[in-house]
Amino acid sequence: MRLILLGAPGAGKGTVAKLLTKLDGSVQISTGDILRGAVQAGTELGKKAEAFMKAGDLVPDELIMGIMEQRLQEPDCAKGFLLDGFPRTIPQAEALKGLLTKLAIDLDAAVDIDVPREVILDRLTTRRTCSNPSCQAIYNVKSNPPRVAGVCDRCGSPVIQRDDETEEAISKRLDTYNEKTAPLVDYYRKEGLLMSVATTSSDDVVNAVKQKIGL
Ligand code: AP5
Repeated sequence: MRLILLGAPGAGKGTVAKLLTKLDGSVQISTGDILRGAVQAGTELGKKAEAFMKAGDLVPDELIMGIMEQRLQEPDCAKGFLLDGFPRTIPQAEALKGLLTKLAIDLDAAVDIDVPREVILDRLTTRRTCSNPSCQAIYNVKSNPPRVAGVCDRCGSPVIQRDDETEEAISKRLDTYNEKTAPLVDYYRKEGLLMSVATTSSDDVVNAVKQKIGL
């Protein structure tokens, strides 16, 4: 499948993407995970992105498009991909459209996961993430804690709270989402690709996607 996952921070894009990858071998491409990996590794990209991310701002479009142009042409994308956290601005959506036309790739849908704000705030303050860049498993101290507190079930690395999960950064990320990313819902409606799922259940989103693309 070839999907864009839209939704506010904490809507569950990463959680749903991980469930969808199990269905048909499509890969999850999370620009947030790629950027956090680069920050942790101290690469040039990481150095450029770090301050924006900590403040809850978006990283400049040129940096993101550079990453995505390369990533979408890697061999593991042949079976399909789930774009988690990309595109996030109208210019990114326009650039993606041009790139996909160039690569002769059609999207199946842009899935908007619509979750109430109070649920999102609660989820973000209670989320924990595996610190190992090649794992990045997602936990929640309330709904899905690791078996041993602070230790990743999958790889044994420390499970941490992200740097952008301070109350101030969360509130900035939600404002940035409303201003810059929410307009993509209309954009993809006009493109005839929008699929909106209003639910707090990740399984409901997965089932709606399965129905839509006939899996
Ligand atoms: P990114 O990593 O993409 O963060 P985000 O969009 O803010 O999304 P999140 O990862 O916070 O949330 P999610 O929707 O994936 O929710 P999750 O599944 O984890 O980006 C981080 C930063 O990188 C940005 O602020 C920006 O600076 C930069 N960046 C990234 N992409 C960029 C781009 N394209 N352009 C410019 N800058 C970019 O779930 C959240 C929690 O809820 C978890 O604890 C989970 O366990 C729990 N949960 C999920 N679903 C359920 C459920 N159904 N029931 C109960 N709990 C649930």
